[in-house]
Amino acid sequence: MAKPIYVLNGPNLNLLGAREPEVYGRETLDDLRARCERKAAALGFSLEFRQSNHEGELVAWIQEARTDGAGLIVNAGAFTHTSIAMLDALLACSVPSVEVHLSNIFAREPFRHHSYISKAVRGVICGFGPIGYELAIEALAAAIATAKSK
Ligand code: DQA
Repeated sequence: MAKPIYVLNGPNLNLLGAREPEVYGRETLDDLRARCERKAAALGFSLEFRQSNHEGELVAWIQEARTDGAGLIVNAGAFTHTSIAMLDALLACSVPSVEVHLSNIFAREPFRHHSYISKAVRGVICGFGPIGYELAIEALAAAIATAKSK
């Protein structure tokens, strides 16, 4: 069986649709999951789509993706701006990874301009709302194909 793409969502993303809709839109996490599943299936991948409000659980899932995943997409939520533990887990992860944010973090408060995890990922997509997850899946599929052909 081909390995799945992991899509990991951090704190408060369970509240999508209800939480600050002017920033994050009206789409729920379930809608986002369905959107990602459609995109991944079109590219021949299955998904492990998860959300947690707990940093340690996200670290454990990154470690799991390291061995069981073809690649990894992370929206670390507020942990983006605080978590050296998630950075370290991603640095230990040799499968390709993409950081994604629904909002344009650079157009928001200064404390959101710095991401601890960007250093460890292949690329960052932010500001395009839920479509950003589809772009991330497409970019990741290309990175996985390149890695395989080497
Ligand atoms: C976010 C941006 C973060 O700054 C914020 O804490 C989130 C969501 C985004 O997807 O735009 O929870 O990662």
